Amino acid sequence: MFQRIKELKKEKNAVILAHYYADAAVQEAADYVGDSFYLAKVAKGVKADTIVFCGVSFMGESAKILNPRKTVLMPDMTADCPMAHMVADGVIEKMRKDYDDLAVVCYVNSSIRLKAKSDVCVTSSNAVQIVKALPNKNIFFIPDEHLGRFVKEQVPEKNIILNDGYCPIHKGISVEELKEEKARRPLAQVLSHPEAGSEIVAESDYVGSTAEIIDYAKRSDCEEFIVCTEVGVAHKLQKDNPTKRFYFVRTKPVCTDMKKCTLEKIIEVLTTGKNAVELDEEEREKALLPLERMLEIAR
Ligand code: 13P
Ligand code: SF4
Repeated sequence: MFQRIKELKKEKNAVILAHYYADAAVQEAADYVGDSFYLAKVAKGVKADTIVFCGVSFMGESAKILNPRKTVLMPDMTADCPMAHMVADGVIEKMRKDYDDLAVVCYVNSSIRLKAKSDVCVTSSNAVQIVKALPNKNIFFIPDEHLGRFVKEQVPEKNIILNDGYCPIHKGISVEELKEEKARRPLAQVLSHPEAGSEIVAESDYVGSTAEIIDYAKRSDCEEFIVCTEVGVAHKLQKDNPTKRFYFVRTKPVCTDMKKCTLEKIIEVLTTGKNAVELDEEEREKALLPLERMLEIAR
């Protein structure tokens, strides 16, 4: 299948982008694998005619928003992130009325509809840096309450108002199971994603985006780690550190939407050209501004 994908990529002048939560085989087939920030930067600069995005819908949308002349194909159109929609209707508008100087800061794990109503986007690797850099005192952080709380703790000088959205996968990581795992492996360091709940973060030695977790594990002298994020990161962690050991809590965090992309579906969309991301142009232009502002500030 890898050979067929290679031939199709050449024939269609396509590149494959995959998130670290994608299946190991999909990561192996990809030209670029990374966290959300890295993939957004790659998507903006792609020269090929077609981008196959092995991730969930907000990632394909962001690629199309940033690079609208390219064809963006989703191996599975139903792969969606539930958190990307978790802002109640009318809340952003109400907040803007309540605070004159409000900045709506939108995690990239969000639909185009939410991005289009926001002032700046962030990812988990640049949220603290970007919120600090904004001139606004009042910040409405959407949709993720947990990343918002993590930023709030790092930037106490701002009034950060939280929204009640969450990632069900990270929220599902049990602190009891983490404590069990820590007791079993007393020498292990705990590496967590900021989408995890505050109790998990409190038990962690390091908190960062998927790419930051991977980077930390590589640099660390420690030989074993308990990883509190989606299991897909294990592929790159193990590949980069063959002698180190990576563990997860007993109930492994699996994002079924990220796992919907398969090699067969990549071949299918490359062959047929189906599942192309189409966006409303007016909405795309509105959503482009906060994404570009993110890329500019985080540069
Ligand atoms: P990052 O790779 O940017 O840390 O994002 C995590 C995530 O939940 C993507 O869906
Ligand atoms: Fe969304 Fe969570 Fe899956 Fe990431 S891991 S795509 S935030 S549901």
